[in-house]
Amino acid sequence: MTEFQPRVFSGVQPTGNLHLGNYLGAIVNFVALQQSHDCIYCVVDMHAITVWQDPKELSRQIREVTAAFVAAGIDPVKHIVFNQSQVSAHAELAWIFNCVARIGWMNRMTQFKDKAGKDKENASLGLLAYPSLMAADILAYKATHVPVGEDQKQHLELTRDIAQKFNNDYAESIAEHGFGDAFFPLTEPLITGPATRIMSLRDGTKKMSKSDPSDYSRINLTDDAEAIATKIRKAKTDADALPGETDGLKGRPEADNLVGIYAALSGLSKQDVLNQFGGQQFSAFKPALADLAVEKLGPIGAEMRRLMADPGHIDQILANGALRADAIARPILDGVKDVVGFIRRK
Ligand code: TYM
Repeated sequence: MTEFQPRVFSGVQPTGNLHLGNYLGAIVNFVALQQSHDCIYCVVDMHAITVWQDPKELSRQIREVTAAFVAAGIDPVKHIVFNQSQVSAHAELAWIFNCVARIGWMNRMTQFKDKAGKDKENASLGLLAYPSLMAADILAYKATHVPVGEDQKQHLELTRDIAQKFNNDYAESIAEHGFGDAFFPLTEPLITGPATRIMSLRDGTKKMSKSDPSDYSRINLTDDAEAIATKIRKAKTDADALPGETDGLKGRPEADNLVGIYAALSGLSKQDVLNQFGGQQFSAFKPALADLAVEKLGPIGAEMRRLMADPGHIDQILANGALRADAIARPILDGVKDVVGFIRRK
């Protein structure tokens, strides 16, 4: 079996406000993985334009996600932070994957169905091909581990399907070119912790999302202490006290969500949180949660604002990251081209 060097890759779209779901479901894990792995974190601006983005706003959001990465504790010197469109290997490999993946696979993606809505014919072609670009993001670096929230699971399964089909379709050429029995690794999703799916504060059955029209549905990383406290105070709950055991959260999506948020913010398990708050009313739990959220998120928001005041510095981080990302992706893409039978300029 071909051995692959462990490498972490993940991406975040620069669309709308980064929120607590992005932070707890993904970014916290990005930060932790820096201790054990070489990590590449990408601001996926090419994915963003699969739905319309105002150009000025897009540039601002690319910088804002970069600022969030750094403010949350990602080290852009030891690891790599860059925006996707600066490394052309993503687009080039995505095209090859468009020819490996099947239209039927793309049509089955729940995110495509949700985003395209009823008028599928009018969705951009890019929105349909979105998961193929995502597979290219990951596999351009032969990344072995991808930390994401629960909502990206299906896309990562598709990434494995694409890698597998490429490895099978080109098996002979892969071996002939000295790449052993597999060119691409079958990437492992890392969907871990008590907050893999943070729900809306207004409706515990809906995912917390950048695109929800109600700002009260989410806590943004840039919210100030007052906004955080207000949103948690107004969060939907039921009338019962918190249970003593996690089993008691079943069928209570709002309670489950708030306990999960507390657990993730404090680094405890949900059971630990219930050991502390079981039997108490939301009127007691919500202020404690608000204090904790302000304590954890306040400094990140403040650091983001500080970084955003110097866009030149952020652009430098991205340019430097892009150069280093390109140096990894380029030889991998050259290998892909050789395997496929393209003739390269040497
Ligand atoms: P995006 O930008 O929608 O979200 C970024 C990360 O945040 C996670 N997330 C959540 N986690 C928990 N609860 C929530 N409510 C919640 N909302 C979002 C997402 O799972 C994600 O990890 N397609 C990706 C971006 C992408 C990517 C990649 C990811 C492009 N290429 C390659 C990994 C590898 C997306 O739209 O994420």
